[in-house]
Amino acid sequence: MDHLQTQGINLPRLGLGTYRMQGDACRAAVESALALGYRHIDTAEMYANEEAIGAAIASSGIARRDLHVTTKVWVENLAPDAIRRALDTSLNKLRLEAVDLYLVHWPSRSMNLPDVFKTLGKLKEEGRTRAIGVANFTLKLLKTTVEEIGAPIACNQIEHHVMLDQSKVKAYLDVRKIPLIAYCPLAQGRAASDETLIRIGKKHNAAAAQVALRWLLDHDNVAAIPKASRRESQQANLDALKIALDDDDRKAIARLPKDKRFVSPGFGPDWD
Ligand SMILES: NC(=O)c1ccc[n+]([C@@H]2O[C@H](COP(=O)([O-])OP(=O)(O)OC[C@H]3O[C@@H](n4cnc5c(N)ncnc54)[C@H](OP(=O)(O)O)[C@@H]3O)[C@@H](O)[C@H]2O)c1
Repeated sequence: MDHLQTQGINLPRLGLGTYRMQGDACRAAVESALALGYRHIDTAEMYANEEAIGAAIASSGIARRDLHVTTKVWVENLAPDAIRRALDTSLNKLRLEAVDLYLVHWPSRSMNLPDVFKTLGKLKEEGRTRAIGVANFTLKLLKTTVEEIGAPIACNQIEHHVMLDQSKVKAYLDVRKIPLIAYCPLAQGRAASDETLIRIGKKHNAAAAQVALRWLLDHDNVAAIPKASRRESQQANLDALKIALDDDDRKAIARLPKDKRFVSPGFGPDWD
């Protein structure tokens, strides 16, 4: 598995997303993924599944240093004391002394960004997270974070897939060697039934979802966190790394509409 080096951590480029998986089903899915070789698990306090993930990690026997765990502070908890409490709760549920990456899940209009990063910086110094980062940050928010505040962010986790262009944000991140972690890398599963991807997949004896993942991971500085509850899909997503797309495939994927954003809650930012 390839890794990205960022802010002192070694991030496996393919991870397991866990949104909308909870309880025993989540535990079983994470156990299955870890057994197949996944070493990067993405969760959030909002997903209400950190306990199940903690149980799966504990039973896996995998050495802590060999595993990357990301969790996120929810948008309502961005005041300094609330961030601290949120991370404490997440660590307890995950049964970990530290996470590898702690993210601001969504920017909020009322947050005090310098204070947020001051608090996250202290939590990093205290060893409760190895690195800090953001999710759903626009170009404008990234500029404030990086150029004005100087926060050492290890990633921006944003929606990105064959149907959503993120070239402007990506160009900004690339210059600064800040990884883009693609969430909804399968367009919430829609990639699996896209005609163009199915056609390309047939050429390579692969499925459409695999083509979508391979396309994302062909880009430097990108990691992806597909959610898959079934063992077959988890394995298929790992096997996507074995496909080699050619120029014709890339041209066909470039022609797909690139304006399909599927995650845009009312409290979210004005996208660039
Ligand atoms: N930071 C944020 O604000 C944010 C927002 C959204 C998501 N995320 C993270 O990103 C992760 C992924 O996003 P997502 O779950 O919304 O969407 P996704 O990963 O693009 O798509 C998940 C869907 O694709 C299906 N699938 C997985 N592998 C497949 C395969 N090989 N063939 C066919 N279908 C396949 C899954 O089915 P099964 O589950 O039935 O296997 C599920 O229905 C989340 O779980 C979460 O960790 C972060």
